[in-house]
Amino acid sequence: MQTYQQLLETKLKTRWEPIDPIYTPIHPALQETIARAVAFKELELSVASFLESASKRDLPVDEYGWKLMASNQHDEEVHDIALSKLAASLPFYTDRPEVLQIKSQFEDLANRCHPIEVARTLESGVFFVCLGILRVLGSVATRNVASDVLRDEAIHVATNTQIAKSLGVYNQYPQLERLRRDAVAWLTEELLPDRIPAAYAKYDQSFWLSKNFSGKDMENEVTKATYMAFFEVDRRNQPVYN
Ligand SMILES: [Fe+2]
Ligand SMILES: [Fe+2]
Repeated sequence: MQTYQQLLETKLKTRWEPIDPIYTPIHPALQETIARAVAFKELELSVASFLESASKRDLPVDEYGWKLMASNQHDEEVHDIALSKLAASLPFYTDRPEVLQIKSQFEDLANRCHPIEVARTLESGVFFVCLGILRVLGSVATRNVASDVLRDEAIHVATNTQIAKSLGVYNQYPQLERLRRDAVAWLTEELLPDRIPAAYAKYDQSFWLSKNFSGKDMENEVTKATYMAFFEVDRRNQPVYN
């Protein structure tokens, strides 16, 4: 297990800037799922507010842990901008009222369960799925944006898992797990075996609902997809680091 100091210092190495992506084609049968995955951007600022409420409580963290929490909270604002720019680049994108409903259900639970556990569940159980979908079912722009967001989220999940475990609230709320599963079921409902294009058959709804998938499962596709040579990718779709 990494200390809060290690997580904070890892994080400082990877500052990135949201890009203004340009659209590159996405398989028509996957566009609805991609739009839904992007629509979950609405919950980025909810997570920031869960971290804000958690920070007002007594948390079992050291001084680095507090700095990490503040930095993670700031990341959510960057994610909101990056995913909003991505949404604006997709010609088929429209906001989804279902996501607003899911958002208010998570916000309601954050008043009744520890907000750090609600943030952790959303990040590890919903955002990881959205970002995985953007990486393996999308285009170069969705992959690059998702890679940057995902790197931050991995640190957020490590932070929030450690705090939730120290507080004894890790995996302690069945209603939260039910909501998470319902959210992923809605997100992936178009990915049924008879609707998903054959080339993507592995990534049907049961894959995303299994909860057992890991980076390893997506390794080949992601390696192929993310690490294209820079000359193969429009400059506007390339990640920006500083
Ligand atoms: Fe985020
Ligand atoms: Fe996060």
